[in-house]
Amino acid sequence: MNFVVCKDYDEMSKKAADVVAECIARNPHALISFPGGDTPLGMFQEFVRRVNEGEIDISNVSYVSLDEWVGLSDQDEGSCGHFNQINLIQVLDKPFKQVHIINGQAADLQEEANRLDAFIQENGPLTVSVLGIGLNGHLGFNEEGADIQSNAHIIPLSETTQRVMSKYFGDKFSPTEGITQGLGQIMKANTVVLIANGEKKADIIARAAKGEVTPLVPASILQQHENCFVILDKAAAERL
Ligand code: GLP
Repeated sequence: MNFVVCKDYDEMSKKAADVVAECIARNPHALISFPGGDTPLGMFQEFVRRVNEGEIDISNVSYVSLDEWVGLSDQDEGSCGHFNQINLIQVLDKPFKQVHIINGQAADLQEEANRLDAFIQENGPLTVSVLGIGLNGHLGFNEEGADIQSNAHIIPLSETTQRVMSKYFGDKFSPTEGITQGLGQIMKANTVVLIANGEKKADIIARAAKGEVTPLVPASILQQHENCFVILDKAAAERL
């Protein structure tokens, strides 16, 4: 793992955007994936600025979302898809070549997971996968015990995730399942970027990056990835 400890959230966001920009410069036909959650907002903004100012060319780049709450689509405020729409897709002056946003409201969720697999299969492997981390070490919605070889799948949300989720949409929705890219697909990415900020992430970052590699802490599998950047602000790096 390559650790990058930044002075604050802004620097973390810029460093993450730097890695993504380098990946696209090396592979203009890249397939990229960004996470939902609060952590990546600064990186999204930095990425959009660079695209809109002509520093990054995405005309041949494809984008795929990482995960979604079952029951929600990109029309629902607080969903991962909505976050993608308002902070990325709709504010880009120039579009990606292709965009695949997971629909957690699909009538047939297995079919939706198959569509996600097919998109990654056709355009992949992922050139760069940017990830946040849940307080329990989840990546996307690969919760404790997730299969490290999995492709896209539907998974029950852990207690921790269900406790934390109201920060995204209050009590408007109460999802109990998620749909997510699998750890197998994430591990096949040429480059992985794990970002985290704030004191509340310090414990889980230490367990994921320095603790035992175990499915009980899904992010610990990234220790086995050959090209993984862990980009943190000072507070999240505190217990490394
Ligand atoms: C959410 C999402 C993940 C995200 C993680 C951390 O539930 N499913 O994609 O990376 O949990 O979220 P946050 O960045 O808000 O701490």
